[in-house]
Amino acid sequence: MNGKRILLIIGGGIAAYKSLELIRRFGKAGASVRAILTRAGAQFVTPLSVGALSGDTVYQDLFDLTDEAQMGHIALSRAADLVVVAPATADLMAKMAHGRADDLASTVLMATDKPVLVAPAMNVRMWEHKATVRNAQTLTKDGIHFVGPAQGDMACGEHGFGRMAEPEEIFTAAQNLLGAKGPLDGRHIIITSGPTHEAIDPVRYIANRSSGRQGSAIAEALAARGAQVSFITGPVNIEPPRGVQVIRVQSARDMEKAVQAALPADVAIFAAAVADWRVKNADTQKIKKDGGALPALALEENPDILAGVSALGADKRPKLVIGFAAETEDVLAHARAKKARKKCDWLLANDVSGDCFGSEDNQIIFLGAKEEHWPKMRKSDVAERLAHKIITALGEEENNKK
Ligand code: CTP
Repeated sequence: MNGKRILLIIGGGIAAYKSLELIRRFGKAGASVRAILTRAGAQFVTPLSVGALSGDTVYQDLFDLTDEAQMGHIALSRAADLVVVAPATADLMAKMAHGRADDLASTVLMATDKPVLVAPAMNVRMWEHKATVRNAQTLTKDGIHFVGPAQGDMACGEHGFGRMAEPEEIFTAAQNLLGAKGPLDGRHIIITSGPTHEAIDPVRYIANRSSGRQGSAIAEALAARGAQVSFITGPVNIEPPRGVQVIRVQSARDMEKAVQAALPADVAIFAAAVADWRVKNADTQKIKKDGGALPALALEENPDILAGVSALGADKRPKLVIGFAAETEDVLAHARAKKARKKCDWLLANDVSGDCFGSEDNQIIFLGAKEEHWPKMRKSDVAERLAHKIITALGEEENNKK
């Protein structure tokens, strides 16, 4: 993204505050952002905040003589490699679909010959309204690119599709459109995630509370940096991460097979909460209660997927094998022992005695060459931090080879 020029059009939606983060994200990657704030957009974020973050004039008015003299609307649209509309309101989308040009944003969108990426944000009913559906179809036919919207809780208290994609997703979509390569371009990374289900009979199973959120966040962070990600997930209730190959499995043995099939890889991350045991005497028919003796489950141990991959010969072993440790007591002592036993390169330990499962936050003790106590942070931030470490480690490994 270094040196790329983004023209960001900020429409009038509550999600406009996320566009500020988006400006920072582009800036961090070395891209420059010039912003147009619509009249409605200015009701949600101020030109001052937008200008302070973009480090440039914020353009607002089609008929502003100063702006028009310095940088006319045609020049604005031409001096960009990509136009991003975030948030794109139902109204902005309607204007675009109908070719209207009655303010600076819509005029620039009419005048541009550059790729346009739209991140819609609106109430679920507005998103599902026939007119919006029609407009989105027209825009897609016209070659406009979309990112999101996502499903989730909305500021208006409703739930459904209409929530603007997160800044990181918009950034990744922009990166892909610009054909930019990330630092993990050409790297293959395997990630296991979520719980496994071990059948007792065709309708019952043994499982655990893993939500798959941490593994999912890691997959997304690595894909955003250009990695080819094989994401092997047990049954979860969350949307799969974007930009990855999703391989769905049920049991620990399925997961092991999927990992073996996905090898070779540069990095393998084991974030799954694999069931330790499976039912030896699993029934092929539903077990009935007949008022007699209670059924006894005989258990047998599942293969340790992480230990198996760690023990592979140098020709097959990923350069970095990363495990997790879910502990409820003596976290550090158990984690150290687990790292030594499983012979992984790094281990991220977390205390799961509290509200970790299903939560958005996580607190990690990182065991690598050194031990680090990370503060409590969002699972997405844990993912960012881990991605950064992986990039550094792979870079060092490359340098050592030279
Ligand atoms: N793991 C695995 N295969 C298993 C069990 C665990 O790949 N059959 C991996 C997990 O994905 C995680 C690490 O091993 O990266 C540790 O998992 P955890 O559940 O914390 O430990 P266990 O090996 O199950 O040990 P214990 O139950 O004694 O805590």
